[in-house]
Amino acid sequence: MEFWGIWCLLLGVTVCRGNVTPPVVKINLDEAAEQRWSPLKQLFDRDFLHKAANQVIDSTIPMWVHQAIRPLVRALEKYVPQPYAAEIRGMASLYGSDISDVVLLNFAYEVSAFCCSIVAQDSTGKIYHGRNLDYPHDVLKNLTIDVMFIKNGEVAYRGTSFAGYVGLWTGQSAKKFTVSGDQRDKGHWWENIISAVFLKSSPVSWLVRETLEQATDFQDAVVRLSTIPIITDVYYIVGGVHPREGVVITRDRIGSADIWPLDPQYGDWYRVETNYDHWLPTPKKDKKREVAMKAMNATGQNNINTHSLYKVLSVYPVCNSNSVYTTVMSAAAPDEYKTVVRQTCDVS
Ligand SMILES: *[C@@H]1O[C@H](CO)[C@@H](O)[C@H](O)[C@H]1NC(C)=O
Ligand SMILES: *[C@@H]1O[C@H](CO)[C@@H](O)[C@H](O)[C@H]1NC(C)=O
Repeated sequence: MEFWGIWCLLLGVTVCRGNVTPPVVKINLDEAAEQRWSPLKQLFDRDFLHKAANQVIDSTIPMWVHQAIRPLVRALEKYVPQPYAAEIRGMASLYGSDISDVVLLNFAYEVSAFCCSIVAQDSTGKIYHGRNLDYPHDVLKNLTIDVMFIKNGEVAYRGTSFAGYVGLWTGQSAKKFTVSGDQRDKGHWWENIISAVFLKSSPVSWLVRETLEQATDFQDAVVRLSTIPIITDVYYIVGGVHPREGVVITRDRIGSADIWPLDPQYGDWYRVETNYDHWLPTPKKDKKREVAMKAMNATGQNNINTHSLYKVLSVYPVCNSNSVYTTVMSAAAPDEYKTVVRQTCDVS
């Protein structure tokens, strides 16, 4: 849409056919929650946002359910904690949408994080973390944004998200830790809504954002991400700044089902998590885990860094036509944070 056009002018025509970095949006946390997402206005036009939101909702939620659930979602607004409630209200006026649609949009995105996360330690003890996010709908490619959350004039934390979404599936707290979330397929999205209302637990992407905002280090982040109740099962992958600070947390709603750390002394210098419990074999139809591991083995511990990790995340079918974006990051070197919106799986 509009910003793509601007990007093409700025970057040259060849780039437009390949992969591009998403726009960076600065969200000032010192501003009132209802106003803080207004910088999105400069990047997206309202009609596009409105249409895109409807496409995401329609592709995720059957129409009859959408109609039936509206009153429930409106009630849900009462249960949405701050600052999310006010941010969602602000987003609704930005979108020109009914607030129940924006709440629904945020829950629709809650079921959207397929595919891979990798955390790895190189031979010198540096930690790298990468992820692909797959979603079977092209429109998210046009909605992907890198968000810098600003507090007291400084970047408090950052992440990659979609316009309209107040949670994060991918993020970094500089010099402390990085987090990504991968879907763990259990139940239906409306069970999540019920769980949010009756158990008062957080959507999984809100816990990521809260952890980025509040956790003081890797250890603290792992404790929070393993113990705070959430509305559905998920995998949290966390990378730190010191050797051996890398872990895959398999989550149930109530707490962790399993903690799977790096164990470089015994040769386990990386962990790959797709959308299956790591102790179980993967289904025949989805061998992304094995392909990613093979590519990691071929890369080798001596050669792993954000560039080579990006290449691993570009191998088919780890990268595929549903891949919306790839992010690579390393909390110890926060400026290396890089997101690419995947128009192709070429490494260019
Ligand atoms: C996304 O942007 C591309 C490039 O401008 C455009 O061709 C495509 O139609 C857009 N997709 C959607 C779903 O709006
Ligand atoms: C990768 O290397 C490890 C350790 O040598 C080995 O156990 C594993 O089977 C290899 N995986 C693949 C998919 O090549």
